[in-house]
This record gives sequence, C-alpha cells and structure tokens, in this order.
Amino acid sequence: MTTPIFPELTEAVIAAMADAPDPRLRQIMTSLIRHVHAVVRETRLTEAEWGQAIAFLTAAGQISNDRRQEFILLSDTLGVSMLVDAINHDDGPEVTPSTVFGPFYSGLQPGLAMGASILMRPEAGTPTLVSGIIAGHDGMPIAGALIEVWQTAPNQLYDVQDPDQPEGHLRGTFRTGVDGAYSFQTVLPVSYPIPDDGPVGKMLGALGRHPNRPAHIHFMISAPGHRRLVTHIFIAGDAYLEGDAVFGVKPGLIVAPEKTAEGAVIHYDFRLAQGA
Ligand code: BEZ
Ligand code: FE
Repeated sequence: MTTPIFPELTEAVIAAMADAPDPRLRQIMTSLIRHVHAVVRETRLTEAEWGQAIAFLTAAGQISNDRRQEFILLSDTLGVSMLVDAINHDDGPEVTPSTVFGPFYSGLQPGLAMGASILMRPEAGTPTLVSGIIAGHDGMPIAGALIEVWQTAPNQLYDVQDPDQPEGHLRGTFRTGVDGAYSFQTVLPVSYPIPDDGPVGKMLGALGRHPNRPAHIHFMISAPGHRRLVTHIFIAGDAYLEGDAVFGVKPGLIVAPEKTAEGAVIHYDFRLAQGA
C-alpha cells in the first residue's frame, strides 16, 4: 500500500475542530473532511479542476433565489436526497414509501372541499379523479389528516416556473373526515425535465445524463400522532420510471390509471407511520 499524500494535513484539520461545542457538528465535519481529502488524494485533483468545482458551487449559489433552489437539484440528482430519505424513513412495509420533496412545494394552499378540482383554469390533459383512503399503519382510517398535493401542468411546468399559470394552479389542500377518504379532480400528470438551464443541467449534460422525471403527483400528508409523509404517486407505463433523474421511484408508488368515459380514475390508499 502506498503512503497517502500529506496525511498530517487531514489530521491537523480534524484536530482544529476538537473544541467544537456541538459534538454532532464535529462528527459530521470530521467525516466530511476525511472523505473530501480522500477524493482529492485518490483522483490527484488538479488546481484547474478544483477551480472548476469552486466555480460550479458559486454558480449554483448565484442562480438560487426564492423560486429556484439549485442545491436541492444538486442533492436530488446526486442521490443524496433519497439516501437521507432512506435513512430517516425506514418505517416498514405496511407504511406508504416516502420519496423526494423536490423544490416546487410553495407553501400551504387554501383548503378545498373534498372532491374539488385543483385546476384554476382549464387544461388540455386527461380529466382525472384521484381518490383513496388515508389510514394508519394498521389500516384504520385517519380523520382530520391534512393532504397537500401539487403537480405540473400539461406543458411540463409548475405554476411557480410559469408566469402564464395562475398562482396555486394544480395545487390543493384537503382535510379528511371520519372515513379518512380523500378525492380531487385534476388532469393526468406528464413527465417533465427538472430545471436544466443552470449548473446542475450542465453537470447532467457533461455526465451524459438526461434531466427527466416520470409523471407524478406530489403528496404531503400530515396527521396528529403520525409521521408526516412526503411522497408521490407515479403513473404506470411512463418511459422515465426506469431512470428518474432524481432516483425517486419506488415500486409501491406506481399506479395504473383506469380509463373511463370522462377520462381516467386513480385510486391510491396511503398508510402513515405512527409518530410525532
Ligand atoms: C419534483 O418532482 O418536483 C422535483 C424533484 C426533484 C428535483 C426537481 C423537481
Ligand atoms: Fe415534481
């Protein structure tokens, strides 16, 4: 085995943090330093390459604002978000799997009546009724669960990305009654590219990767006594179910819409883990 280059430097940086008052911060930073130094050693990083890395992070910061979060895209496309999710949501097979939150949640929306449409203007997509039951891990319906949903329009954009869409279009908030049932009207979601006009898009291009996500509807479900569930339902048959740009697909989240005379219906029941 060859001796690592300048090993005492890594130890000196770690020792410099010995008095950090927060032991968890010290633990995380120690691990980070060991791994970053290992990458530099293993690849024998050039000064030009390190300069490129700094320029990339600078550009990611500069393009980020209230509506654009390049670091979430970076975390998502590098699989870090799904790894954090896996570590923190190992709630067992009887509970609905979670997946990435993504950057397009835009806060609590005004409540809608159960069964209402989340469209604020007509869209050309397939009219779709989405319904199911919100239950605990034991299958008992949960009354008073808050369900927040959001999705793209048929033009592949969320309202926050598209000045032509009314704010709140294709978003909705619902509260379950004693039967735990939920339902709303929408249009079938479509697959779409994550924002790829910034440094993360350039990175994907340089790595020979595409930016697309399979069609999905986002859900965030909160209920007292239960862990908040952040997830999506994905539409069966989508070409990008294999190869989601952010690695968010889990088999238990894929649903096949049923065709009807009016359009389509999707039935999906959610089960929440116990917890605070
Ligand atoms: C989304 O599904 O909204 C999303 C998730 C990760 C990155 C970009 C978008
Ligand atoms: Fe999305």
